[in-house]
Amino acid sequence: MTVMTPGESAVPTDSAVPTDSAVAVEAAVPSEAVGPLMRGIAVLREISDAGGRTSLSELVRTTGLARSTVDRIAATLARMGYLRMDGHSAVLTPRLMELGNAYLASLRLPRLLGPLAAQLAEELDESVSLAVPDRDGIRFVHQTTRRRAMSLTFRIGDLLPAERTAPGPLFAAGWDERAWVRWRERRAADPEDRGFPAVPPRGAEADGRGGADRDSAGPDDGGSGGDGPDDGEAGFAARTERAAERGWALDDQLIEPGLIALAVPVRGPDGHVLCAVSAVSHTSRHSADSLRRTLLPRVREAVAAMERELREAPTVPAAAPAGLADWTSASKQRLGADFLESLARGLTVLTAFGEGRAELTLSAVAEATGLARATARRALITFEHLGCVGSRDRTFRLTPRVLALGCPPLSRITLPDIAEPHLVTLVKKVHDSASLAVLTGDDIQYTARVAAGRVMSVTITPGTRFPAYAASMGRVLLADLAPAERLARLARTEPLALTPRTVTDAAELAALLERVEREGYALVDEELEEGLRSLAVPVRDRTGRAVAAVNVAMHSSRRSVERCLREVLPELRATAEAIEADLRIAGRFTRIPSA
Ligand code: PHB
Repeated sequence: MTVMTPGESAVPTDSAVPTDSAVAVEAAVPSEAVGPLMRGIAVLREISDAGGRTSLSELVRTTGLARSTVDRIAATLARMGYLRMDGHSAVLTPRLMELGNAYLASLRLPRLLGPLAAQLAEELDESVSLAVPDRDGIRFVHQTTRRRAMSLTFRIGDLLPAERTAPGPLFAAGWDERAWVRWRERRAADPEDRGFPAVPPRGAEADGRGGADRDSAGPDDGGSGGDGPDDGEAGFAARTERAAERGWALDDQLIEPGLIALAVPVRGPDGHVLCAVSAVSHTSRHSADSLRRTLLPRVREAVAAMERELREAPTVPAAAPAGLADWTSASKQRLGADFLESLARGLTVLTAFGEGRAELTLSAVAEATGLARATARRALITFEHLGCVGSRDRTFRLTPRVLALGCPPLSRITLPDIAEPHLVTLVKKVHDSASLAVLTGDDIQYTARVAAGRVMSVTITPGTRFPAYAASMGRVLLADLAPAERLARLARTEPLALTPRTVTDAAELAALLERVEREGYALVDEELEEGLRSLAVPVRDRTGRAVAAVNVAMHSSRRSVERCLREVLPELRATAEAIEADLRIAGRFTRIPSA
């Protein structure tokens, strides 16, 4: 059965095959494919395409799966820590990024070239991205975003149709006839680019834009004659030919009015194009022509440095993981019929890959996961059918499509987003309000807060500021600064006595901060407001820097200081650790904004 609503492309509702346009031409399902794994992947992709959150009934509608199947898939993914339920909605969790990370680590490009891309962005004061070919699309594997007058920003994992991007023609230069056939079929099956949730529908762009590649395209070199920027097959073929000749390509507002990009291919030591670097700007700062004139030489220099890095970077020897799937049997015992063991086992297969482990044999996958060879083999066959794994000469590798499993929404999350569900859990345990804050100047600023329903005299919402010296989270964040910086801050502020108990003496404050640093927490008792006691610990990023602090605030009559330390501090620390664990996974290949 096929359900069509106006303005929507046909989605077969009786099969759980992902609706990504790149699989418009579906191969027959291999007899050895694992059904629950296929359906689980379909669910993950649906939630991902929906922006990381969707209701279970919506999932039933979009995947065509039975409600009971969706429930069991959700229960299994929740047990894996890849999804959480928020009321009736399924929400992807940062932990899920470990699947995409396995691909990004095995690719090596983000780690090796990301810093050079960031340096180029700094130098040009424009956004710079790295994209890899993904069948007839391009998929981003790195973004250093510096966007100003622009509505759209793409993130890691976003898939764009090749013909509407700057890297597209560079990749299409290497397509064979089969690839062009597939491209044509996808265009015919999905004329509005609905299979690319990151881009506005094709044909929806405003008129009056420049043209696909106006600078030297000459008078109409093969446009489709239609409206909007889509220049049809002849146009894309012509741009591809020119890109092959020149070694660069432009996107002059093919995605949306105002957005322009210049791309140059990056080749590996064997001469193959591995990815493309794009410098992205806006028509308010550049024309397509001036983008090429002013930026091309510098992008080329950066690409030369990137290609050098790829030739010279030492390979990192990787320790082989073991027993990745060992926990799945225990979960099956605990959760019974609600736990789809074959889905959980299948997904752990993806985590067997990584840096230095880009190409694995079946034996290596079986060894890393602890799965029987037959089980690992069937999972690999399933992933290959879904386009998430490729094979050659008896080895398997992950494909960019693994990034469709949650990366686009999860690479957009912020630290407050990560923290919130953990704060909710904490508040349920301690029955007092919990918050997250960052240091801004001499103040702390709240970025997330979960209230405990108890009436407190302080009304705090995200955005609220307090002087750092008198707040528990402020003390934790000040204590993390280098000693000289800490002293400079204390010297610059003139602490006010907000209550009779506020410590205002600089030497005394300095000693307090040393103690906070030593003990790893701050307890502030009625110094900010009478009757208010609060306890805070730092939240540290991968480098160990305190990027935020988390606290519990309560009325001072609620517990003695001793009980507060005994009962609340361990819970608070566990919360900070849970946030840090998520931050490490989500922030491995992308910068997570602290506020
Ligand atoms: C981007 O990095 O956001 C980007 C790259 C190439 C394009 C458009 C956008 O053609």
